[in-house]
Amino acid sequence: MKVTIVGSGFYGSTTALRVAEADIVDEVVMVDIIEDKPQGLALDMMQSRPIERFETRIIGSNSYDATAGSDVCVITAGLPRKPGMSRMDLLEVNAKIVGDVTRQLVAGSPDSILIVVSNPLDEMTALAAQVSGFPHERVIGQAGMLDTARFQHFVAERFGISPLEVEAITLGSHGDTMVPVPSQVKVAGKPLSEVADPETIDELVRKTRDGGAEIVGLLKTGSAYYAPSSAAAAMVKAVVGDTRTLMPVCAWMTGQYGISDVYLGVPARLGRRGVEEIVELPLTDDEVAALRTAADAVRAKQADVTQFIEG
Ligand code: 2OP
Repeated sequence: MKVTIVGSGFYGSTTALRVAEADIVDEVVMVDIIEDKPQGLALDMMQSRPIERFETRIIGSNSYDATAGSDVCVITAGLPRKPGMSRMDLLEVNAKIVGDVTRQLVAGSPDSILIVVSNPLDEMTALAAQVSGFPHERVIGQAGMLDTARFQHFVAERFGISPLEVEAITLGSHGDTMVPVPSQVKVAGKPLSEVADPETIDELVRKTRDGGAEIVGLLKTGSAYYAPSSAAAAMVKAVVGDTRTLMPVCAWMTGQYGISDVYLGVPARLGRRGVEEIVELPLTDDEVAALRTAADAVRAKQADVTQFIEG
C-alpha cells in the first residue's frame, strides 16, 4: 500500500511521519517542488526507523513519477496564512497550486483517494474533486477532525479534565461558518449544557472557531501542523485500514441534513472507498440552520473557484 503526501512543509512532513510511524503501509512518498528538501527529510525519517521500530519506507522526490500507483494522496500544497489573514485570502493563490497538483497526481494514481488539507479547505476540496473528475466519495477534506480536537481541548482545559473524557463534534466549514455543536458535547459523560452556562458555551465555541488563527498569530510565520497532521493521518489510517471509523470530514453532500451539491464538514464513515456513509446526527434546529448557512457560504465560493485554474 502506498500513500503520497504533496508538500513537505511542516504539515506535509509531520503527516508523512505520523503515517509512516503507524507502520500500516509499505511506502510513504513526499513530493515537493523545493529541490532536495523532500529527499533530505525522507532520509532523516528513514534513519529514525530502527529507533521508532517501523518498516514503512519514506521516499522524497521532486517528481510525480514517484507517486504513481498511490492508494491515498494527501494534498498539503499551498501557502499558509499570515497573521491577520483569513483562510479565504488564500483562495486564488492556492487554487492554482491545488489545481495543478491534483492534475499531476491523478495522472499516475487514477484509483486513489484524495485527502485535501490546503486552505480555504472546503473550496480546495471542491476544486480537487472537479479537477480530478473522481467520484465525490473519493475526494475528502480534512478539517472537522482538527476543529473537533480543538473543541475537545478547550472544553477539557475549561473543566480541568482529560481531553479523552470530552466528546464533541464540529461541523460546517473550516472557516467563519464553522459549526461547533454544543448539543453533542459530553463532559465526563454529562451534557455540556448541564455543566456550563450559555456564556461559557459561547466562549468555547468562539475559541474553537478562532483556534487556527490563534496559533497563526503566535507562530508569526506558518500555521498549525501538529494537530492538523494528527487529523490528516487519522483519516489516512481509516482509509488504509478500511475501518469505517466515524469522523467529521469535509464530504460531498447528497441530501443529508437537507443539503446537496456542496462540500461540507459532516460526520462520515471512512473506508477503502473513501466516504462510505454520511451520518445524520440529531442536531437542534439552530445547529441545522447554522449548517445550512455554512453550506450556502461554501456553495457561493465553490462555484467560482475554478476561474483561478488554467485549462
Ligand atoms: C488550521 O486551522 C491549518 O487551517 C489549519 O490550523
